[in-house]
Amino acid sequence: MEEIERAGDFEALDAARSTVFGRKSRLTEIRRGLAEAPPDVKPVLGKALGEANRRVETACDARRAVLDLAREAEMLERERLDLTLPGRRMRHGHRHVITRVIREMCDVFLSMGYRVASGPEVETEWYNFEALNIPAWHPARSEMDTLYVDTSGTDGTGADRVPDATEATLLRTHTSPVQVRLMESTQPPLYHVMPGRVFRNETQDATHSAQFHQVEGLVVDSDVTFGDMAGTIEHFCHEYFGPGYDIRLFPDFFPFTEPSAGLEVWWEDKWLEIAGLGMVDPNVLRNVGFDPETWQGFAFGFGVERVAMLRYGIDDIRTFYNNDVRFLEQFV
Ligand code: PHE
Repeated sequence: MEEIERAGDFEALDAARSTVFGRKSRLTEIRRGLAEAPPDVKPVLGKALGEANRRVETACDARRAVLDLAREAEMLERERLDLTLPGRRMRHGHRHVITRVIREMCDVFLSMGYRVASGPEVETEWYNFEALNIPAWHPARSEMDTLYVDTSGTDGTGADRVPDATEATLLRTHTSPVQVRLMESTQPPLYHVMPGRVFRNETQDATHSAQFHQVEGLVVDSDVTFGDMAGTIEHFCHEYFGPGYDIRLFPDFFPFTEPSAGLEVWWEDKWLEIAGLGMVDPNVLRNVGFDPETWQGFAFGFGVERVAMLRYGIDDIRTFYNNDVRFLEQFV
């Protein structure tokens, strides 16, 4: 019994058990002698043998159970995965705050059934100015504002040429030329937003940048009114900024809309302009072959950086482009 209880593994336990029950064991010897035992001793001896067998088996079972538990515990320990160890964290990038604002703005319009379109950043004078009713003498075309692109080519291959450039090319000063490209390629009704990057020959300061972003919008349909435009803009502001922002339209001028307006939002203690808008000028419709008697429309152009500054209380436009991670990672 002692040997059984001390058995450190299954082999030792088996060996101990054979010692008790094996052919040469004491118990076996006694069992063999049972036949020759005197009749009065036989039953007592038989009972004692049975009792001895049971006790040994019970001890073996008990020891086996202990060894089973130990084996399982040992296996669990051996196969243990320490899930509490911190993994090696991958540093993920995320979208730039301007990209995020553009997407969120477009989402509001998508929810109103608009589609998203885009156009090239290098434009011809026709798309950027003429088709938009901006004549050559217009101050917006001044070289003070516009960055012209020399496409004469430096490597002789003309690889960086604008494909259809037979006239002066420039970095687009607004996203409005995409309106023209859209109207040329698609028949009304049109409900589109056109986000993108624009360029002006501007000296950088807290509120000016030579590159910035706009979200252009264009609707062309029958029976479109100024009221539709005002309602759309109001809905957008409510959806994007939430309640508690005061907005107003004020009269403005753009050559490609008539009448034109500006959109201002009350911020801290002043009105901040964030968009230009207006009813599409009949001349622009005629330029793309739409009959102004059949089709009317409105257009708008939001300054994305302005919207972002307002939304997040940012007071210097340069922080968007400095690539200081401490600033950018606040907008995950
Ligand atoms: N393109 C104008 C700008 O850059 C904004 C605008 C867009 C105005 C559409 C009216 C309609 O200032």
